[in-house]
Amino acid sequence: MKKNIIIAQAKSLINDENNLYANLANLSALFKEYLPDTNWVGFYLVDFESKNLVLGPFQGKVACVRIPFNKGVCGKCYTDKKTIYVENVHEFPGHIACDSASNSELVIPILDKDKVVALLDIDSVKFNRFSEEEINSWTNIVEEIFKDFKIKK
Ligand code: SME
Repeated sequence: MKKNIIIAQAKSLINDENNLYANLANLSALFKEYLPDTNWVGFYLVDFESKNLVLGPFQGKVACVRIPFNKGVCGKCYTDKKTIYVENVHEFPGHIACDSASNSELVIPILDKDKVVALLDIDSVKFNRFSEEEINSWTNIVEEIFKDFKIKK
């Protein structure tokens, strides 16, 4: 796991640009390259007015545009404010299947102070794709990148 390399590459991609969508688009492409056996890697942005998670830049097949705060794996991540890992999405009650090829899913919250403002969602074609070490590393990668780069729409 090349955690420090990924963080350094991510920071160099977004350092000189403050357009949110351009930066999230490049981050989703970068992360996808480092995540073999994944079929969807991308962002959902929190819309506090409608109480929905709204689709942001991603790599993968077309996906649900809006997810209510209390639905799916993404909704659980939003509500619990912590990384959620589902080894087998078919056993997760309320899982929202955007791509039928997905078998496991990792969702990491992006926090600004104490609020969840966005999520990184990673879907894999493999069951139980992530080790505990990788889950911690990706959670840490997200924390490191987004402590300097704020999600402002
Ligand atoms: N599976 C997610 C929905 C988003 S897609 O995976 C891109 C969920 O259950 O929240």
